[in-house]
Amino acid sequence: MRNLIDILDLSVEELDSLVATAMDIIANPEAYQEKCRHKKLATLFFEPSTRTRLSFEAAMMELGGNVIGFSSASSSSAAKGESVADTAHMISCYADILAMRHPKEGAPLVASRNATIPVINAGDGGHFHPTQTLADLLTIYRQKGHFGGLTIGLCGDLKYGRTVHSLIAAMSRYPGTKFVAISPEELKLPEYVMQELSEKGIPCVETTSLEDAMPQLDVLYMTRIQRERFDSQAVYERLKDSYILAPEKLVTAKETLSILHPLPRVNEISVRVDADPRACYFQQALNGKFMRMALILKLLAEKEVAAPAGEEIIDPRLVCDNPRCITSTEQELAHIFRPTAKGTYRCIYCEQEKSL
Ligand code: NCD
Repeated sequence: MRNLIDILDLSVEELDSLVATAMDIIANPEAYQEKCRHKKLATLFFEPSTRTRLSFEAAMMELGGNVIGFSSASSSSAAKGESVADTAHMISCYADILAMRHPKEGAPLVASRNATIPVINAGDGGHFHPTQTLADLLTIYRQKGHFGGLTIGLCGDLKYGRTVHSLIAAMSRYPGTKFVAISPEELKLPEYVMQELSEKGIPCVETTSLEDAMPQLDVLYMTRIQRERFDSQAVYERLKDSYILAPEKLVTAKETLSILHPLPRVNEISVRVDADPRACYFQQALNGKFMRMALILKLLAEKEVAAPAGEEIIDPRLVCDNPRCITSTEQELAHIFRPTAKGTYRCIYCEQEKSL
């Protein structure tokens, strides 16, 4: 049984093969319409969603399968205090595959360790969102025809924007990728993301200026300032209009630029940009459905159990105290860490770094 919790759970070859399947689905949709007959997808969404949940559901339906699930924590037994582990255990009795979105970082990983069906992370707090990355990759592929040698500008809330964290992990594996991280000081990329980039020797320039970055970019990935993840609403109010992409700002951009956004947008891309041929964000949402179809097919077909990625340590001195981590709410969940190259340890659920 295979899961998709982190985009790095898929090899580059597997990503290529998912893109190839998605392209085939686009070309021959009728060949796929019975592939998941009598199979059920459960969508467990403990946080708001439009595109991700509905595109998962549409994907399963277009494969001839069925869908069960819920779209808010308040309508599930989580409202009665049921743990993620127990919920995942239960859903394995009712469905063949599970997609989970949860506000706590690491919740889908906990689900995957307690389910007997494949688990897909549909977004865990400000941590990861690997299936959005699948949509992003197909969009880049359809625009550029390849993944190598691209300069990718990531703009907006790079601290809490989980889609950005997964996209960086995926694109880091293609030769010649360069990142330009454009954000206010308060919303810079998390330290663990920068650390991984520097360990792999991948260039990532941090700047606060979208104007300065614009001329060099092949892809501009705009993001929403993630209001729901701020501890202080006053800080959100101060930062919410940091970047607003309008046609005037695109005059210095390449003709071949591709503008992506995972959506929903608030005001960070003017609707006046929508008619620009470089705007790809609505095609990106459609691409998400095709890649989720390809992913469901792949995970349902695989029987092998994935081994944990790397050494895992449980030590009473290593305690994760990140309030955003699933360890903060899941009773009796073991605090598990992985050693880093620096000699420290990272929580497997939320990446919080600790020392012994
Ligand atoms: C993103 C998410 O949920 O992280 N939306 C999505 O899945 N397309 C981006 C966001 O909410 O800003």
